[in-house]
Amino acid sequence: MSIFSGKHIILGVTGSIAAYKAAEIASKLAQAGALVDVILTGAGEKFVSPLTFQSVTGRKAFTDKDLWGDEAHIMHISLGKTADLLVIAPCTADTMAKLAHGIADNLLTVTTLAAKCPILIAPAMDGGMFDHPATQANLATLTSRGAIAVGPAEGHLASGLSGKGRMVEPAEVLGHIRLALGRSGRLAGKKIVVTAGGTQEAIDPVRVITNRSSGRQGYALAQAALDQGADVTLITTPTALTPPVGAKIVNVKSVQEMLDALLNESADALIMAAAAADFRPKHAAKDKLKKRDGIPQIELEAAPDILKTVTGSGPGTRRFSIMVGFAAESRDLLANASEKLKSKGLDLIAANDISASDAGFAVETNRITLLFADGKKEPLPLTTKTEAAEKIIEHVARLLE
Ligand code: CTP
Repeated sequence: MSIFSGKHIILGVTGSIAAYKAAEIASKLAQAGALVDVILTGAGEKFVSPLTFQSVTGRKAFTDKDLWGDEAHIMHISLGKTADLLVIAPCTADTMAKLAHGIADNLLTVTTLAAKCPILIAPAMDGGMFDHPATQANLATLTSRGAIAVGPAEGHLASGLSGKGRMVEPAEVLGHIRLALGRSGRLAGKKIVVTAGGTQEAIDPVRVITNRSSGRQGYALAQAALDQGADVTLITTPTALTPPVGAKIVNVKSVQEMLDALLNESADALIMAAAAADFRPKHAAKDKLKKRDGIPQIELEAAPDILKTVTGSGPGTRRFSIMVGFAAESRDLLANASEKLKSKGLDLIAANDISASDAGFAVETNRITLLFADGKKEPLPLTTKTEAAEKIIEHVARLLE
């Protein structure tokens, strides 16, 4: 189930040209299952009409007219009371100033003052206004009270100039909303390290030995851990994927770099979703191998087994309290996976049947059986990588409790 599902989000829209981008935020949240109540300020309404928001959220969009309507005396309280999160995107310098000083002169500022939930603002204004000491002081006041501020970004501004003041893009606002919604999840206060992608072992400066891993399962695991409030480090090889907002990213290429990165970490759990090489060229050529020199003979050597190296040799020496591995198998799935579970000192292994065309590398779905150190088995139905990630994270949370 999506983290947005059933969540009540108030989306405040103030008077900035970036207001049109708020329609995309509202639309994406509603599509993901959130109940989105939009409140426009008078200036916000001048840029985008309430009808736009009603059309994408399927719910009434509120304006200052509602402040003086029949339900005026209770509405701001009830809106702010039931919300899981109050987002103001775009948030102008004027609204920031009002919020910093507790001014409540329109439905949005009244609701914000009454709200009990976390508040996230995405400032948008001219660069000079953002740099002004008054705005900076207001921003500092708001963040010191716990408001989450996202942006602004550098770039082209409505004034025609370039500078810091643009609202960050909707996708990034959505990523931060997701992060904020997950903060009190089951893994709050826990640190999880996830590895993702196929490693690259250099043959020469331009050629590598790699594999078909897309990194999707690892990225989905990082996102699922963030959704449960974990502090996530994602150690990743180059992939085509966008890293989840909130994860600390460590970029690596080879098995050795991945191992070195892990030896710098300690955490409550390690999830090794990366497809790390087992063999690598013994010597990487310093210069590009040339055709004219004939077909090269590439001698391979064993690459270090990362899981076996980071396990630690005895009680108290483990860097990671819980260790989770994957077994990609094309035959004897369960026998091979349970041998890996033992030999690599794991608490849980996700045995993935890569012989099927709908499972494994570079496809959207996986056929996984979870095997636990205590001998328990849990076959998962054909799942998306996201669903598999959520299941695995649920078990990691249980094992850590
Ligand atoms: N793994 C690792 N270091 C490696 C290779 C793999 O830590 N050099 C990890 C993988 O990230 C995975 C688990 O070990 O979590 C099992 O990987 P897999 O490729 O299935 O098994 P191998 O141990 O490499 O054995 P084989 O390839 O012979 O099946």
